[in-house]
Amino acid sequence: MSHLFSELRIRDVVLPNRIGVSPMCQYSCENGFANDWHFVHLTSRAVGGAGLIFTEAAAVTPEGRISPQDLGIWSEAHFEPLARIVRFIETQGGVAGIQLAHAGRKASTKRPWSGSGEAAADEGGWPTVAPSALKFADSYPLPTALSLDAIADLRAAFVSAARRAIDAGFRVIELHAAHGYLFHEFLSPLSNHRTDLHGGSFDNRVRFLSDCVSDVRAALPDTAALAVRISATDWTEGGWDLEQSIELSRRLKSLGVDLMDCSSGGNVERAEIPVGPGYQTGFAERIRRDAGIATAAVGMITSAPQADHIIRTGQADLVLLARELLREPYWPLHAARELGHAAPWPAQYLRAAPRGAPERRPVHGIN
Ligand SMILES: Cc1cc2nc3c(=O)[nH]c(=O)nc-3n(C[C@H](O)[C@H](O)[C@H](O)COP(=O)(O)O)c2cc1C
Repeated sequence: MSHLFSELRIRDVVLPNRIGVSPMCQYSCENGFANDWHFVHLTSRAVGGAGLIFTEAAAVTPEGRISPQDLGIWSEAHFEPLARIVRFIETQGGVAGIQLAHAGRKASTKRPWSGSGEAAADEGGWPTVAPSALKFADSYPLPTALSLDAIADLRAAFVSAARRAIDAGFRVIELHAAHGYLFHEFLSPLSNHRTDLHGGSFDNRVRFLSDCVSDVRAALPDTAALAVRISATDWTEGGWDLEQSIELSRRLKSLGVDLMDCSSGGNVERAEIPVGPGYQTGFAERIRRDAGIATAAVGMITSAPQADHIIRTGQADLVLLARELLREPYWPLHAARELGHAAPWPAQYLRAAPRGAPERRPVHGIN
């Protein structure tokens, strides 16, 4: 039976356990480059025993960053600092994943500790784009509606970024189609008012994401895993919802997506969201069952029994933790002890490990 510390195989990618680091912006780059902060932040979670370590949203074009300090992967120059992080993650037996993103109308904003809303030009801001010229909120920039040529260019940018990510050693590629960023803006009738082949019907609203998935899948080796993070609902009448998410997941599966990462919200400034422990897990469960695709559950998963229960009862194939792993990078090692599982500890730390814990053997290369 699957449990939190069982392996998960997706194509040729074998995760040593079902615990993943959810993508988390660190707002700490210059010109999109990963630096020592990203190295320490991501690799310490690999030392802590997470099976899958996702980078934060990595922008596929400079204009796709949420803030001027976001991570990017729009040029060859971004490759080496990312590759160094991947190499270290693999020495701990972890698998490195990258989230490829474009923030659409929610781009060009201040990083959280520098204020909120639009980043002015002298703070590094830039003009934004979206499916339609609709602001996210009063304090956000007014985007320009994308032309068909600009949409085609963005498809190509996602493909180039995915190729670069594979070259850097990432084995799981996730497209960020959640939280009110560009893909989600196309999906939701609340942010997509287009009247061309990208707007109106469900088929039209899912076209941009589906096209990008097809292009990216074709550019990836068969061995690599492709995930898509969605907001399963806008939590708003007339918006994107779970039924559409299920149908989208079926289609993306047929296009070669391996895992749906099920989050929610972010496209509507004031939505009523019933936040609480595991409040999004039901979305992962429904999509897994009704679309027949592997899912990741995320959102207020904080305890070992809770995480193990999600896996054991087949609600999801993987749990992703965000804030709890900021609080405690060694959460997976503690969870293993609590659940009575002998997870491997780094040889350097064995003197602090529970009795009988196996030594983590550095893993190099690809399984
Ligand atoms: C500091 C921070 C940065 C985040 N950045 C991203 C991101 O880059 N991409 C993304 O999909 N979600 C992002 N999120 C959302 C998390 O991945 C996660 O979905 C959310 O925090 C709920 O999980 P939690 O309750 O375990 O924190 C971020 C969350 C935090 C706290």
